[in-house]
Amino acid sequence: MTTAILSALPEEQASLIARLERAQRLTHAGRSFWKGELCGRPVLLALSGIGKVAAATTATALVEHFGVARIVFTGVAGGLAEGVNVGDVVVAQAFLQHDMDASPLFPRWEVPGYARTRFDCDARLATLLQDAAGNCLSGAGRLPELGDGAHRVHHGLVASGDRFVSSAPEAQQLSQALQEAGHPVLAVEMEGAAVAQVCLDYSIPFAAIRTISDRADDTAHADFAHFVQTVASRYAEHMVQALMRTL
Ligand code: ADE
Repeated sequence: MTTAILSALPEEQASLIARLERAQRLTHAGRSFWKGELCGRPVLLALSGIGKVAAATTATALVEHFGVARIVFTGVAGGLAEGVNVGDVVVAQAFLQHDMDASPLFPRWEVPGYARTRFDCDARLATLLQDAAGNCLSGAGRLPELGDGAHRVHHGLVASGDRFVSSAPEAQQLSQALQEAGHPVLAVEMEGAAVAQVCLDYSIPFAAIRTISDRADDTAHADFAHFVQTVASRYAEHMVQALMRTL
């Protein structure tokens, strides 16, 4: 039962590759995949690529070509909801595509052919990720770069779209429109909903954890770059290892 660990960024993947036992690099669909073991469990490491299409292709390859049993995604996201701050962690309960709009043929945000707006994550895997994140924020994985403030683990809805959200008005508008339609979104990123949809197609359990790198506002690009360099990779490493020990 191989677990695929999808990373959004090379910086996050590098620390996992460094820890991989019996590492073997494979190429498929123009991508590199790393097969091996983490904490004695079989894993396949992959980069999602950026955006929904790249992530969907990677997820499809993981299932169709490599036959993985489950997919776990680690990455960063912009905080949208109030109180979801840089350094916090969001464990996804479900994903939606904030740039899906086939109205008036279908309700706004509904994915045609699926009769749904939200794609749920696997509850058991999500609980394991919440525990791993809690451990990381409170204990061994805590990073001095994040200061002394208390960082929180959130659990809820995450929105994906082919856009880096980087202005306060856009973030506010997105958050408000979704909230008014009954979709209180915690964070925004660019891949998770696509992977969730592929996993639903193949009946594969999927879960995702996103560390908040920015507030999707006017300073998002600078905050993002700094965060990726200083924090993202070590967070991902701690959380994935904690998860693998409990799987
Ligand atoms: N990933 C991290 N921050 C993001 C943002 N502000 N918008 C989209 N994806 C992100």
